[in-house]
Amino acid sequence: MTRKLIILTDPGQDQAAAILMILGQREAFDVLGLVATAGNISLDHTITNCLKLVELAGRPDIPVFAGCPQPIIRPLVMAEHVHGPTGLDGAHLPMPAIKVQQRHGVDFIIDTVRAHPGEITICSLSPLTNLAVALRKAPDIAGKIVEIVAMLGAYFEVGNITPTAEFNCYVDPEAADIVLKAGIRTTLLPLDVTHQMRSTPERLQAMLAFGNRCSVATAEMLEFSQAFDLGKYGWEGAPLHGPCVPAFMLAPEIFSGRLISVAVELNGTLTAGMTVADWWQITDRPKNVFYVRDGDPNAYYDLLIRSLGNLP
Ligand code: BDR
Repeated sequence: MTRKLIILTDPGQDQAAAILMILGQREAFDVLGLVATAGNISLDHTITNCLKLVELAGRPDIPVFAGCPQPIIRPLVMAEHVHGPTGLDGAHLPMPAIKVQQRHGVDFIIDTVRAHPGEITICSLSPLTNLAVALRKAPDIAGKIVEIVAMLGAYFEVGNITPTAEFNCYVDPEAADIVLKAGIRTTLLPLDVTHQMRSTPERLQAMLAFGNRCSVATAEMLEFSQAFDLGKYGWEGAPLHGPCVPAFMLAPEIFSGRLISVAVELNGTLTAGMTVADWWQITDRPKNVFYVRDGDPNAYYDLLIRSLGNLP
């Protein structure tokens, strides 16, 4: 069955890999639009990066919408130290010919969910700002979204932007809080699983070996962005976060997790943005998240590399 997707994204090389993976699976995914989010880099860059990626994939027909330029109440924290000054350094992608849509990304989410009740999956690779604002502006859409599948959070691996917080949650914890309390079926792909998906030299080489422009560009981008994490963790390959979202939708059997309660810490002076995951079911808080803890990295890279290989 083909899933209708709205993609929330602030690319980011790992998210470029995720977007291209999705576009390489046309039978599985019907992408109705990308909502550019402020996060890894400022909104003007993430808009340009989204436009570049749909063009790279030969899909200029997919509309790109601009979301909010900053989190709901906090100043924007970015990750240029990982992704470079454009957010998408590492490959030479031409400036896009297509333009961003006029409609705001939040309105695109609302209109699209209302037009397709019970049909839309929200694929979130970024902070959840735009979905949270959409839910506040149009609470009726909560009951019309099929599912949210999001790269966000951490429990066993704790944090990557602070000792206790994962980046997408840390940037806009109020947004994550709103979304996780909205009563929508939600799956989280946290650092606990993304840290298992390491881009070893053999895996990047296998990607390059396909030789098509999307595989080559993805390998080049990941070579750039992994430098920071290789230094930080000292592993043979860097974690590859974003593609866990489409991989979970395509092949849930290669992952495992539990339905648990996850809450977001908003006020902690040392722990703001932490996802407090009740893995051991210590509380009786409602189970609001399918929390993915483990995955099979070989199957994951096989799926990613084959998906990229379907593109130009
Ligand atoms: C997340 O943070 C960003 O820097 C990555 O693109 C990914 O979305 C991982 O914590």
